[in-house]
Amino acid sequence: MFKVNCLNPIANIGLDLLTNNYKVVDQFSDADAVLVRSAAMHDLELHPGLEAIARAGAGVNNIPLDKCAEKGIVVFNAPGANANSVKEIVIAALLLASRDITDGINWVTSVKDDPDIAKLVEKKKSKFAGNEIMGKKLGVIGLGAVGVLVANAANKLQMEVYGYDPYISVNAAWKLSKYVKPVRSVEEIFRECDYITVHVPQTDSTKGMFNKEAFAMMKEGVKILNFSRDTLVNDDDMIEALKAGKVSKYITDFPNPKVVGVEGVIAIPHLGASTGEAEDNCAIMAVNELMDYLENGNIKNS
Ligand code: MLT
Repeated sequence: MFKVNCLNPIANIGLDLLTNNYKVVDQFSDADAVLVRSAAMHDLELHPGLEAIARAGAGVNNIPLDKCAEKGIVVFNAPGANANSVKEIVIAALLLASRDITDGINWVTSVKDDPDIAKLVEKKKSKFAGNEIMGKKLGVIGLGAVGVLVANAANKLQMEVYGYDPYISVNAAWKLSKYVKPVRSVEEIFRECDYITVHVPQTDSTKGMFNKEAFAMMKEGVKILNFSRDTLVNDDDMIEALKAGKVSKYITDFPNPKVVGVEGVIAIPHLGASTGEAEDNCAIMAVNELMDYLENGNIKNS
C-alpha cells in the first residue's frame, strides 16, 4: 500500500479519499507521495522512494521543480480548482479599490459612542466618496483559469476589459473569453487601463514586472490588484508610485511588511482561495491526480 504524507492539512473530503485508499503517514521522509498546500519545500531533503508531489492549489513556486525533475519526482497541481473563489475575491477587491468601504467602516467604529454620530456622518461622508467601476478600463494580465473568469465577471459589471497573455495568441484569447479585448503587449495594458489585475504564475520573467518602468507607463491614479504572487511587484517602486499618486490603490493578497500600512495599500492575508468550496475542489483534484498516477501511471496537470 502506498504511503502518503500531507505536509499541510487538506480538506476532509480529500483526506477521506486518501485514507480509504492509502496509508497516511506522519513523516515526510517515510512517504511515497506527498500532498502539499503552501508549505515551502525548497529546503526539504527529497528522499529516495519519493515518487510524486501533489499541490492542492495552482502555484507551484513552493516546490523545488528543478530538483524534482532531476530525481524523477512527478509534480501535480490543481489548476482551476480554486479559480471561482479567486475570481470572487478579485471582484470584491475591484469594488474595495473604488469605494472607501474599509476606511469608512473603521471611521464609523471610531465614533460609534458619539451621541451626535448622525451629524458627524453627514459632515464626514464626502471624505469617503469613491467612483463607479462601470465604464472603466480593466486590464487582466494572464488569461488562464482565473483571468478569464475575472474578465467575464468584470464585463458583466460593465467594465471595458482588456486582456493580455504572453502564452496565448490574440485569436485564442478571443475564443477563451468573448468579453475581453485582447491586446498584443503588456505595455498596452499598462498605458490604457484604470485598473490592472494580474493572474500569472511566479517565474523569472514575471518577477518584478510591476516596477518603475511599468509604473511610468501607467495612467495617473491607476489601481492595481495582485492576487497572484508577491514577487511580481517591486515593493520599493510600488511605494514610490503610491507616494507620488501614480498608483492610487494597491490591493494585495500578500501582506508583506514593507507595504502594509503604506497609504493606498489594502493588504489581505492570502484569502484568495480560502473558501470551503475551493479547499474541497483543490483537495479532490490533487488526490485524484495522485491516485491516477500511483494506480495507473497517468500524468495530468504535471
Ligand atoms: C494558489 O496558488 O492556488 C493560490 O495562491 C492559493 C494557494 O496558495 O493555495
